[in-house]
Amino acid sequence: LVASMQKMEETYIMIKPDGVQRGLVGEIISRFEKKGFKLTGLKLFKCPQELAEVCALSPCFCSYFCREHYKDLNSKPFFPKLIGYITSGPVVCMAWEGDGVVASARKLIGATNPLQAEPGTIRGDLAVQTGRNVVHGSDSPENGKREIALWFKEGELCEWTPAQAPWLL
Ligand code: TYD
Repeated sequence: LVASMQKMEETYIMIKPDGVQRGLVGEIISRFEKKGFKLTGLKLFKCPQELAEVCALSPCFCSYFCREHYKDLNSKPFFPKLIGYITSGPVVCMAWEGDGVVASARKLIGATNPLQAEPGTIRGDLAVQTGRNVVHGSDSPENGKREIALWFKEGELCEWTPAQAPWLL
């Protein structure tokens, strides 16, 4: 009973502003759908911009969500640019669930630098620059949980079971 009540592995996937503005939302979502993972959260969200005092470089417009999301990177030289990019327009926030979903989603997404990402991956097929690599995927189950809790409020997530035979899960 305890095992069956344990939550399935989950990952946070985010279509970044370039993905939204280039009209790639459907294409990106469909790759996770076709693979067979279960969508449990989905929303379009514009990061509120605030003047942040914590940025290494100033002046820099930051957002609580992005700073918290990328907190492990906040000493990197590219951090202010990264925050500027993620807050530049709406993003699509998603929670996906399934066995091994974290590592599998990272494979579907491809390498951080799109020029090194394999053809067939999202970044390999759809992007060129590291600073505009269209999509984010959590790098561990712990970060999956942390990022879903950060970007979604409780009532926004949806627990559901397929009405028919669960062919893929
Ligand atoms: P990282 O967590 O290393 O990569 P990934 O998104 O593949 O998990 O970095 C987070 C984001 O930071 C990355 O998607 C794009 C941006 N970034 C840069 O802009 N320049 C860089 O040199 C690196 C390493 C990352």
